[in-house]
Amino acid sequence: MAEHIGIVGAGYVGLTSAACFARLGHRVTCVDTDESKVDELGRGVVSIAEPGLDELVAQGLGDGTLTFTTAQAELYGADVVLLCLPTPPGGDGRPDLGVLERVVPQLGRLLRPGCVVVTKSTVPVGTAARLPGLLGRDDLPVVSNPEFLRESHAVEDFLHPDRVVVGTDPPGSAAARRIAALYEPTGAPVVLTDAASAELAKYASNAFLAVKLSYVNVLAELCERFGADIREVARTMGLDARIGPEFLAPGPGWGGSCLPKDTTALLHAADSAGVDFGILRDAVRVNARQRARVVRAVRQAVTGSAAGSLAGARIGLLGLAFKAGTGDLRDSPALAVAAELDRAGAELTAHDPAVGDLPGLAAVQVVDDPYLVAKDAAALVVLTEWPDFRDLDWSRLAAAAARAVVVDTRNLLDPDALAEAGFTHIGVGTHPRR
Ligand code: UGA
Repeated sequence: MAEHIGIVGAGYVGLTSAACFARLGHRVTCVDTDESKVDELGRGVVSIAEPGLDELVAQGLGDGTLTFTTAQAELYGADVVLLCLPTPPGGDGRPDLGVLERVVPQLGRLLRPGCVVVTKSTVPVGTAARLPGLLGRDDLPVVSNPEFLRESHAVEDFLHPDRVVVGTDPPGSAAARRIAALYEPTGAPVVLTDAASAELAKYASNAFLAVKLSYVNVLAELCERFGADIREVARTMGLDARIGPEFLAPGPGWGGSCLPKDTTALLHAADSAGVDFGILRDAVRVNARQRARVVRAVRQAVTGSAAGSLAGARIGLLGLAFKAGTGDLRDSPALAVAAELDRAGAELTAHDPAVGDLPGLAAVQVVDDPYLVAKDAAALVVLTEWPDFRDLDWSRLAAAAARAVVVDTRNLLDPDALAEAGFTHIGVGTHPRR
């Protein structure tokens, strides 16, 4: 059944949800307070780079199923309203719910009786239970329906989710079934549960991924000590159906706008509840030391000693974004590594296919031409796993560099091809090859 869905917040979660629900046949009104963003979206201009998103927005605008507005009043009459508001980290590790606490009472004065109010962006456990109080009404059913979208795969993840979780108290209420029905065309398994479990499931999933990655990053370190190869170890582990092959690639650490924020929030929640979540605390600690590990590897590559000086050394960085497929620099491990190298006195030139400049880190010269990063470089460092880097002319990079050595923190490049191009390739958790 086609519903009238209101979306509050046209950020990456809100906009993806709006465009995808319009695609699934619903009428969607997306509200945001940012006038210029609403104006642009109304003209089909999408500023976030999500594959497939601009086509869906254009389609929704074209067939009239999707509208953007700054007028909250247009949500009157909606059958369902999804809250897709930002919950950035507050100073103390707890998410800052300021926007939500301001907007929800406004909605309470506006929505028609029976409208289902859904929390979609990540909110602390217990938020759904607080909503009736914030709304100031008890005739608006409340549902927790957290998103599990990956940046740069958001549309694909929305339309083909691994699972959909719908939390209400009591579980499986009429409102829960109504929200579950919205996802029916995706064919995804739906978990009908209580609100707190739905909210916790979101944090638990992101925190588990973070623990998995930190585990692999430490294993990679062990591989280096024992002469083993993390790719072989991870491949073997991943064939166990209970472990699975995803999220087993070591790197410079996990980052982005979600994993760091959500692990910190869950740790804070556990502390407040008096529960020792030591395993998660360790995962965060391991992640923080990853950047130092990369810097040590660069020192070793450039000077032959893990404690050697990088003062005045020209280092070329390939990749700045927190992962491939996005230009997002929020909590990017690549930036953390760049900042450490800068502090160590290195002169940095960087290229990232999706990043034009670095306002916060003036010491790094960002160039559009990847070959410029190699000019007179004492080492190259691959920090983001852009497949484009594999296709570079590595012989040309070798000719431009002062020393043809690459520290590949993502094990992205083919060591044999690099050796042929004259490069010394230093991977993570692998045997160095010269
Ligand atoms: C993450 C989750 O994967 C989504 O399910 C979730 O919905 C989203 O957060 C969110 O809470 O909104 P995202 O932040 O887009 O999605 O990033 P991921 O693809 O999960 O990558 C996280 C970090 O792990 C990146 O820094 C990435 O480079 C790193 N990573 C990932 C590795 O180092 N190795 C791997 O094998 C995989």
